[in-house]
Amino acid sequence: MRSLGSLSVAVLAFASLAFAASTPAAAQTQSTSAVAQTPPMGWNSWNFFFGKVTDKDIRDSADQIVATGMRDAGYVYVNIDDTWEGDRDASGVLHTNAKFPDMKALADYVHSKGLKLGIYSGPGPKTCAGYAGSLDHEVQDAQLYASWGVDYLKYDLCSYGTNMATLAPNDKAAQMRLMIAAYDKMGKALRATGRPIVYSFCQYGMDAVWEWAPAIGGNLWRTTGDVQPNWGSIYAIISQQEGLRKYSGPGHWNDPDMLEVGNGKLTLAENRAHFTMWAMLAAPLLAGNDLPNMKPEIKDILTNRDVIAIDQDKLGQQASRIYSDGEVDVWTRPLAGGAMAVVVLNAGHDRYSTHPFHLDLAKLGLHGTQTGKDLWTGKTVELTDNMPIELVSHDVLLVRIAAPK
Ligand code: GLA
Repeated sequence: MRSLGSLSVAVLAFASLAFAASTPAAAQTQSTSAVAQTPPMGWNSWNFFFGKVTDKDIRDSADQIVATGMRDAGYVYVNIDDTWEGDRDASGVLHTNAKFPDMKALADYVHSKGLKLGIYSGPGPKTCAGYAGSLDHEVQDAQLYASWGVDYLKYDLCSYGTNMATLAPNDKAAQMRLMIAAYDKMGKALRATGRPIVYSFCQYGMDAVWEWAPAIGGNLWRTTGDVQPNWGSIYAIISQQEGLRKYSGPGHWNDPDMLEVGNGKLTLAENRAHFTMWAMLAAPLLAGNDLPNMKPEIKDILTNRDVIAIDQDKLGQQASRIYSDGEVDVWTRPLAGGAMAVVVLNAGHDRYSTHPFHLDLAKLGLHGTQTGKDLWTGKTVELTDNMPIELVSHDVLLVRIAAPK
């Protein structure tokens, strides 16, 4: 993650207002309401393939999204991350590199499966992996994506941080204005194509991006540095989401980064807890695992319809951590129709048998025994006040209460 420091609240407010005022209302409406009414769902190449991804990997992954039932569970975006880019020709038109011989044909293939195609670039001269960025070619690139049939763009700050520092040395406020302008420029170029394209900001949560991204057409914005496939990274990200709830909603979402479910050495409990918490946070659900070699238990996690329904709930309100007791956290999320999701998360290293956790319903605003559904076992459960709950390390209890009282 690149650090550019933070700015005062006054500067943030000024920049946010200035750009909101200069963004036409029609454009704001189109960008924030036409797409991503619920958090985008799909798959992205980076967390498993990194720089090795090829056209064949994307086709194979699209095939698997259909074959495994993921598409029918809601995963529709197939997103190519960094390293697809080639060189620009004399007219400035960007070409793909040898790993992606024909992007239009690839888009057609993905579309033929009932899926959508995502792509990656950034406002700087180079992407994070050192490939061509969109600097000074924003309109041309947006037109190119639209001509291919691209449905989603992840726009990664990367080398533009250096440009900002060079253009406005030692002036953090001016650097922030440059960053906002760069994201605004590509947003306008995307809207000018007339094609609905989800616009994903990737600048690692700097400078309170959640305060200014929606006004310039951001449908989602990364709130953190890069996720890693280990519990320390995942739990740190979960904890960083506190306080961001009010910025998220239909058309514009906090993005705690893509899923690592099925990657690295995550235990089954950790995979389940990771997926549960992303659903509670109304996070984009972009799987990033090796789909052709997905284990059945990982498929079961990623395609749990009840948990996906929490993520995709129409109210679009992300969860809050209500209280912690030792290393156990309790989160709730309000759902459409007055329902509620409750999570008990054991973030500790031990099973809580010697120091059992007891659920305090009053702290959740609940009165007396609640009937709900345990979304990981599918069974009806009763939550009684002060009941002991024992979870293995890094596991969760996730209960949906249809009629909380
Ligand atoms: C950054 C982003 C990642 C990924 C890589 C690609 O690190 O945060 O999600 O897109 O760049 O180079």
